[in-house]
Amino acid sequence: MAKILFITSSWRKKSNSACLAFHAAEGAENNGHEVTTVDIARLNIGACRGCLACQKTQSGRCAHQDDMSRFYPLLEEADVLVFASPVYWFNLCGQIKQFIDRCYALAIKELPDGTVCFGKKKIGVVLAYEGEDPFDAGAVNAIRSVQDMCSFLGATFAGALYGTAHNEGEVATNTALREKARAYGAGL
Ligand SMILES: Cc1cc2nc3c(=O)[nH]c(=O)nc-3n(C[C@H](O)[C@H](O)[C@H](O)COP(=O)(O)O)c2cc1C
Repeated sequence: MAKILFITSSWRKKSNSACLAFHAAEGAENNGHEVTTVDIARLNIGACRGCLACQKTQSGRCAHQDDMSRFYPLLEEADVLVFASPVYWFNLCGQIKQFIDRCYALAIKELPDGTVCFGKKKIGVVLAYEGEDPFDAGAVNAIRSVQDMCSFLGATFAGALYGTAHNEGEVATNTALREKARAYGAGL
């Protein structure tokens, strides 16, 4: 059994990417995993200021206090992280990118054995986009970003779940996508 943390980031109330994440979480839970889902869309998570205080202190925490502060313990505990985002301008949306930037404090904190805690994790990505396929839509750029993140951290890429949907609530009425999401979650 793994501890899985889904992080959703769309402002929409009937978000397509959050709906994919919801059904993936369902699949993971049905497969016996312990799942937590957090929505960061409306939180005050500011930009990384690049001060590198986290690198100097090795505290695993960002020196800047805002809503991000509460997530470090959850991030540390999780075995699997899944970032859910709409595709905006051919990549991850700004809010989840800012969240990921602020993970730097944990990403560079060395453990006593010389590894970093993120290196032991699996990291996946969930994406909704308007385009007909992941290449035209730019979803591949977001996927590649998460893959590169995994390579840098020594983490395992947990795969990508993605699908075409544009209007609010579209995934909720797409049986095939919801099934695909459950299968993705079950496989985490
Ligand atoms: C600012 C903005 C940028 C977008 N950029 C892209 C894009 O580059 N490629 C694409 O296929 N869809 C793009 N879309 C469409 C969204 O990805 C699509 O509506 C998706 O379903 C939104 O997911 P959500 O409901 O989780 O927010 C964009 C939408 C907005 C509002």
